Formats: sequence, structure tokens, C-alpha cells
Amino acid sequence: MTTMRQLRSRVTDDGHLELRLAEVPMPEPRADEVLIRIEATPINPSDIGLLFGAADMSAATASGTPDSPVITAPIGAAGMRAMAARVGQSLPCGNEGAGTVVAAGSEPAAQALIGRKVAAIGGAMYADYRAVRVADVLVLPDDASAEEGASCFVNPLTALGFVETLRRENHKAIVHTAAASNLGQMLVRISAADGIPLVNIVRSAEQVALLKTAGAEHVLDSTADGHMGALIDAIAATEATLAFDAIGGGRQGGQILTAMEAAVARRPGEYNRYGSNVFKQLYIYGGLDTGPTEFNRGFGFAFSISGWLLFPFLAKAGAETTARLKARVAAELKTTFASHYSARIGLAEALDPATIAAYNRRATGTKYLITPN
Ligand SMILES: NC(=O)c1ccc[n+]([C@@H]2O[C@H](COP(=O)([O-])OP(=O)(O)OC[C@H]3O[C@@H](n4cnc5c(N)ncnc54)[C@H](OP(=O)(O)O)[C@@H]3O)[C@@H](O)[C@H]2O)c1
Repeated sequence: MTTMRQLRSRVTDDGHLELRLAEVPMPEPRADEVLIRIEATPINPSDIGLLFGAADMSAATASGTPDSPVITAPIGAAGMRAMAARVGQSLPCGNEGAGTVVAAGSEPAAQALIGRKVAAIGGAMYADYRAVRVADVLVLPDDASAEEGASCFVNPLTALGFVETLRRENHKAIVHTAAASNLGQMLVRISAADGIPLVNIVRSAEQVALLKTAGAEHVLDSTADGHMGALIDAIAATEATLAFDAIGGGRQGGQILTAMEAAVARRPGEYNRYGSNVFKQLYIYGGLDTGPTEFNRGFGFAFSISGWLLFPFLAKAGAETTARLKARVAAELKTTFASHYSARIGLAEALDPATIAAYNRRATGTKYLITPN
């Protein structure tokens, strides 16, 4: 039997996380599937969530061999409770990736893709090969490499999804946190092209410079003196009533709602003892800070705080919208939706303790790309 490598994560019932490169049977494409040789697959924060779960990676230990490494890390009691549903399951990792179609099922649409470079989403991409339904692949433009297509689903469609949400929910401008992220830089380019005012919040002067150089108009450093005043000014100037927060924990989301309310209160005649009637929407779409989320409720009663996740959004938006967004990603793959990587690593290297410590930081401009083949 032909086998291939696949990176898997398992939570054991004795309170440990175990990561290993499993040897698994080579997938056989069904009639409507293609077999992709994976050539580039990014390590995104959501992948890190599945890879490490609630394990304490600072206490991780390595064993196995250089070709077949094993990483083990302890999980605390609260982490085990949170991950009860995955105990004992060996989960393949890697949300999205790209590569060359090397085999295909019998259907003509599948056969037509042999030799083409395609991108796909659906998990189990940290592997040598992955079989995917033809309907679920994005055929890359002829001049695009697998690396250029590797990140063409998760962050591009999410950034476009934010703009769709703005239009559907009748807002004028967006406030975005952790805005120097890969996704945030895409959003800066989309907002410039589409004329959508955007207030970017980052947490260092370097990130302010990065986004200003990329053409962003409103970029605020949350660690700078006078941040709240600057945030109210930027929200007043843009009339933003919609925010997407990748951080989740801490006070930033609440501060944005408070700043939105303060910006409205500057308008003459807007005073109301119960708060303004201007509706403010905060979507939490990430968990970069896993601590508690704090709200000091200084923003009246016309607000909503909810979660935002790409796949439920696409399911609600429908097939036509999804196809339109995907077509824009394909057309602007090398410009608006270009991703940059600080390192390219093999599958076994992804389980090297020093490498794990580096990509687990999720720092600006340090996205890792796995190149299995
Ligand atoms: N909901 C969805 O459907 C969906 C879809 C796609 C992406 N996402 C989320 O989008 C976010 C960005 O993804 P990405 O791939 O673009 O990330 P990325 O390129 O890896 O960048 C991560 C960014 O987050 C910042 N950051 C990390 N920890 C932080 C913290 N505790 N507080 C404030 N900033 C922090 C980093 O800044 P420093 O350099 O200062 O650390 C960096 O700029 C992630 O949270 C991801 O999970 C969600």
C-alpha cells in the first residue's frame, strides 16, 4: 500500500497533546475529486488553534526521529474540559493549501485539471497529498505559483466578507484591530480600492509605519498616549459603526464601542440619557488574546456584540456571492491578496520545538509556509 505523511494532533485522555507525522494511506480520488500534491500551505492562527489547542507549548518536549518527530505537551484541567470533544481523536491539521493536480477521478471536470495548479480549503493540508472535490478547488491563474495561491481562501475571503457585511448591514466604515496582520493588510488594500473608510488599530509604532506605507489613512497605536482621544477622532471622521476585533480578550472591543458612542455624542442634539440611538456592531472574529473579554458599558443600549466566522458567513451569503468573492481573489491574487512569508519549512520542521516557538508567536510579518514537497 502506498502511504504518505500527514501532520496530526491528538489530545490524550491522560492530559497531553501529541503532535506527530502519521504515515497514512495515499488518498484515492473519487469520480468528482482531484489528488493535489501539496506544495505550499500556510500556518494561520486558526491552524495553530487546532494544532496546539489549550496545551502549554512552553512545556513541550520532543521525541521520535528527525524524519518522524513527536511533540508532547501538557494540558491543564481547564484546557482538558474545553477540549473534551476531541479527546482520543487524531486530527489532521492545515486548513488551506495549494499544489499540482497529479491524479483525478473519472469525471471530465476532474480529468481536465490534471497538471493544473490549484488551491483548496477543507483541512488535512499539512500532508504530502490531499484529495479534494473539484467543486471545492480554486484553479490558479496560469502564471501563479502554489506559494502565491496557498493563502487564497481564509484571509482573502474573510477580508472581503467584512466589506460584504458592511454593505449588507448598512454601515459606512470599519474599525479593525490587530490590523497589521496578513488579513489586516489585505483589508487596507480592499478599503483603498473600494473607497471604504477604515480605522486600523495596531499595537506598536512599527506597525503604524507599516500600514501608513501601505497607504492606510487612519492608523492608531493602542499603546500610545492619548489613544482613546485619537480613536474617537478617527471614528468621528469616518462615522464607523462597525468593528471587527481579532483580539477577543481584554478591553479593546469595549473601548471601540465606547469610542463610537463618544463620537456620536459629539454631534449637536444627540444627547440622550440612555445613550444614543445609533446602532453599533462589534464582531469578535479571532482569539489572539484568550483572556476574559471586558466591557465597561459606556455605550448605551443600541449595540450588538457577536461572533463572526467565515464559513457560516459564506453559507448565509449564498453560492453566488461566494463565487463572486472567489473570482475577485483569483483576479487579484498577486496584488490585493498577496501574502508574505518569513520562512518556508518542511513537514517535519513544523514539529521542531524552536520552530514551533517562532510561529506560535503570531507576530506581524512572521507567517510560516509549510512546503511538504
Ligand atoms: N473568524 C474567521 O473566520 C477568521 C478568518 C481568518 C482569520 N481570522 C483571524 O484573523 C486574525 C488575523 O489572522 P492573520 O493570519 O492575518 O494573522 P497574522 O498575519 O499571523 O498576524 C497576527 C497579528 O496579530 C497581532 N497580535 C497577536 N497577538 C495579539 C494580541 N494578543 N493583541 C493584539 N494583537 C495581537 C500581531 O501583532 P504583533 O506583531 O504586535 O504581535 C499580528 O499583527 C487571527 O486572529 C485569525 O484567527 C479569523
